[in-house]
Amino acid sequence: MEGRTFLGLDLSTQQLKAAVINDDLQIVHQASVIFDTDLPEFRTQGGAVIDKVDSKQVTAPTIMWVKGLDMLMDRLTVAGVDFSKIAAVSGSAQQHGSVYWQKGAEDTLKKLNPGEFLHLQLATSFSVTDSPIWMNSSTTKQCQLLEEAIGGPKKLAENTGSRAYERFTGAQIAKIFQTKPDAYKNTERISLVSSFLCSLFLGKIAPIDISDGSGMNLMDIHHKIWNTELANAAAPDLITKLGDPVPSYTDTGPVSNYYVERYNFNPNCRVIACTGDNPASLIGMGLHEGWIAVSLGTSDTVFLWLSEPKLILDGHVLCNPVDKDAYMALLCFKNGSLTRERIRNKCAEGSWDIFNQLLNSTPRGNFGNMGLYYDAHEILPFLQGDFRFNKSGPVAKFTSLEVEVRAVIEGQFIAKRAYAEDFGFEVGHGSKILATGGASENKAILQVLADVFNSPVYVQEAANSAMLGAAYQAKRGLLGESSNYMDMMSCVPQPELACEPYSDAADIYGPMVERYRNIIDDLLKE
Ligand code: ADP
Ligand code: XUL
Repeated sequence: MEGRTFLGLDLSTQQLKAAVINDDLQIVHQASVIFDTDLPEFRTQGGAVIDKVDSKQVTAPTIMWVKGLDMLMDRLTVAGVDFSKIAAVSGSAQQHGSVYWQKGAEDTLKKLNPGEFLHLQLATSFSVTDSPIWMNSSTTKQCQLLEEAIGGPKKLAENTGSRAYERFTGAQIAKIFQTKPDAYKNTERISLVSSFLCSLFLGKIAPIDISDGSGMNLMDIHHKIWNTELANAAAPDLITKLGDPVPSYTDTGPVSNYYVERYNFNPNCRVIACTGDNPASLIGMGLHEGWIAVSLGTSDTVFLWLSEPKLILDGHVLCNPVDKDAYMALLCFKNGSLTRERIRNKCAEGSWDIFNQLLNSTPRGNFGNMGLYYDAHEILPFLQGDFRFNKSGPVAKFTSLEVEVRAVIEGQFIAKRAYAEDFGFEVGHGSKILATGGASENKAILQVLADVFNSPVYVQEAANSAMLGAAYQAKRGLLGESSNYMDMMSCVPQPELACEPYSDAADIYGPMVERYRNIIDDLLKE
């Protein structure tokens, strides 16, 4: 098709975004809907609703996402998008959240009336009206149930890629079954947020993809099928409600007639399976073997390409969204930018410039001082509070502001290296780091990252790697599994070199990583 384009969406916690890209993978149109401000009638904060009685219970109104899509489609129309040129569409979404389709909902999806908004037609299609999302941590009991069903956390991690995590979908579904048995009984199918988004384009319930499916504690990541023991332990008849998982780039069918008639989509436009935002980011960043991606945002995340799954209790192994036989590692650190900001406000008058001067005025290794700062209860490691150490042991405070500034940055990056090494990542053997997120603008911080990992750091101007990844995946899915993915990605601008490690970096940080491990072992024992 002459001048064909691809549509990629990202249904994240706070907003729904879309980009239309051309055959050279360049963005030609963009639009977004911010839930709190564009859809104030749902009264969300950051796209989520925190339960007034139990603050660990966090949901999002499912129909808000549908209404968001109606609004986004109108904004894309106003932006001048020619929908008839879109050859394929795909999407990414916040991971772990779940959608409960009421009995009869698939029939409604198949018979959508192009003259009406989706949210009016799907208003009664959800048996659970508020979808539990990844911020919901009220499922500790259900986590225990899953670990017991398979013989402990190690067994669960071996089979599904992660020990039980509160935000993972298996525990969330188990809780819905236990607390709302009638709603569960009336549920025809269960989607992840990603496969729900895909269903809205497909006009029937779309399959869950294996990458996002690995964030559920229910899928055997080796065979890419649901684990019967776990599914049965979570809730009755669950496997039927989930449907079979598929590789992430699967072509799930043509776009629903609703889009053909309402927006003038080409009836041959294909809908490619949608996936989770972290797998989609891996695609958007063009990550491959030898690279490690470090995203320095509100929270910090680290991704790695893995050719084999690794048994790890801290962190997650997901099926790879690009190569169905490969895997990816995902590490989530809750205390990222907000903790760096706290130390900046305390030591550097709230200025990144002063912060950087202090950071640059201290030597690599920080005179043997080390600091670990967990404002919110950290996931990796499971600790809260501030911990400071000088050469000889724990101290209540450091002797200067600049030592504290270096301590927070070194401490955060040493932790990332330690967990990445647990996944088999070897620093300094041709390894390269791709830095993204708000703090990747800061060269002084990136220099510490290069030194701690003894690897060059590159940056990429990818405004939203998950959304871009979804758009790239639309093209990949259309081209098919046998197409040359690296060839397709060759037109994406290469990341730019930002910093290289100093020659003494390996000698300084190797021992510090070992020291960090010993300190954490001791702290976790206390
Ligand atoms: P999100 O995870 O919400 O998408 P971003 O990736 O946009 O977040 O990152 C936002 C964070 O970036 C802010 O909290 C801020 O602390 C941090 N940030 C922005 N500029 C700088 C800078 N020059 N140095 C360090 N951190 C920065
Ligand atoms: C990943 C996770 C979050 C969500 C946010 O495990 O919980 O990154 O995907 O969108």
